[in-house]
Amino acid sequence: MSRLVVVSNRVADPRKTAAGGLAVALGEVLNNSGGLWFGWSGKLVDRPAGSPQPVRMHHAGQVTLATMDLTRVDYDAFYVGYSNGVLWPVFHYRLDLADFDAGYIEGYRRVNQLFARQLLPLLRPDDILWVQDYHLIPLAAELRALGCQQRIGYFLHIPLPPPLILAAIPGHDWLVKGLCAYDLVGFQSGADLEHFTDTIRSEAHAQDLGEGRWRVFNRTLQAGAFPIGIDVQEFNALTQGIEAVDMYERMRREYSRRKLLVGVDRLDYSKGLPQRMRAFRELLAKYPDTRNSATLIQIASPSREDVSAYTDILHELESLCGSINGNYGELEWMPVRYMHRTVARSRLPGLYRASRVALVTPLRDGMNLVAKEFIASQDPEDPGVLVLSRFAGAAEQLKEALLVNPYDTEATAAAIHVALQMPVEERRERHVAMLATIRRTDVHWWCDSFLHLLGQTEAHESGTPWL
Ligand code: ADP
Ligand code: G6P
Repeated sequence: MSRLVVVSNRVADPRKTAAGGLAVALGEVLNNSGGLWFGWSGKLVDRPAGSPQPVRMHHAGQVTLATMDLTRVDYDAFYVGYSNGVLWPVFHYRLDLADFDAGYIEGYRRVNQLFARQLLPLLRPDDILWVQDYHLIPLAAELRALGCQQRIGYFLHIPLPPPLILAAIPGHDWLVKGLCAYDLVGFQSGADLEHFTDTIRSEAHAQDLGEGRWRVFNRTLQAGAFPIGIDVQEFNALTQGIEAVDMYERMRREYSRRKLLVGVDRLDYSKGLPQRMRAFRELLAKYPDTRNSATLIQIASPSREDVSAYTDILHELESLCGSINGNYGELEWMPVRYMHRTVARSRLPGLYRASRVALVTPLRDGMNLVAKEFIASQDPEDPGVLVLSRFAGAAEQLKEALLVNPYDTEATAAAIHVALQMPVEERRERHVAMLATIRRTDVHWWCDSFLHLLGQTEAHESGTPWL
């Protein structure tokens, strides 16, 4: 059987807590299947730009982690500058936050070349390569240029915007061509896939061969939608675990007279946290029955603090939480408990299960695994309600959630009020339907269906020279 080689910028020991959908999902997959996981170590060294750092190997259960450090200059241009200062905002429809002028693209390309050069000697002829996310779009092209013949798949964990938004990125055609060097490209949703096919049709004259196959740049490319899931079984086991049960019981005791709402996110402007706080404030203002009877616990883990848009959102959120507590709080009740930290994964299901309502209200999100984790950890007899943004990829699947437009403060507040009042029969009905969906399309389904299709793609054709 072929060995699976996963390549991503972020690599995490699958046995430890990670905040971020990619690391969590791949940890589950590789823990099961075994294989090699190649990427950045998370460490920086003060060496000249582009200087190759040694690859360190270590074993974590079934998985071999192969990681290398980045130089600070490469990190600044590749990770902070281009990946998170250009691609992340534009792919999340935030042209206003993108910094196009700084020439970060050189660093992006340099690090992709470095990844290709360092990975190549570790590969076996029958490996299957699976490249992840927006940091590594040109990696297949770089590997092909070095003679790599293995099948290479690519999955984009974040949304892909429509052609006109993508076109705002100077030199975006190079990115599109880079995507076409893979044998299979996967997206989170049907909408993202459509944006991709619209783009290759209009910009690269791609010819539709049917069944997700396209003729483009003189080769055949397969494209599909593969909504990522969670490991429902593993999450159930975690929910029954001692730490989650302890968390659940403590929360139930502490909030026996009040209903708990929960938000768990990386602190990212795409997650709509200020909008969520404004909707919560509106709830307290407009529905006095919620005062002194509802508490919102918002956990926001620190993320990408070297990018200025992230520090801006941190200050905005702190000030909103402070003013809500200042205006509505009482001696024995604070409406918002905000924590800027990561919660241990083993305790998270207990927090979800003790909450009557989850607020998953991103302005834009590839999928959002928190929504699925919340559903998986509920008590089926007395489940909580998911308030979900229609702009999360998960909304394509979880139709039984209370879908909201997070830009509409009043309507979101009204939906939260409905969620808090919802009778148990209706909660059960919605929960059972969503649980069936997340079970059917769990993380193993995601991985198996992607790799199955990748295995069936035609053996590599070189096509147009890529670089
Ligand atoms: P993203 O990938 O954009 O961070 P997702 O919702 O898809 O968003 O995935 C986030 C993952 O990270 C989930 O598995 C979630 O449980 C975890 N996570 C996010 N924030 C925290 C936090 N504050 N504490 C612990 N885990 C977190
Ligand atoms: C999202 C991205 C991942 C990324 C994660 C955490 O899930 O899709 O690629 O790893 O956020 O962000 P970070 O910048 O810390 O890796």
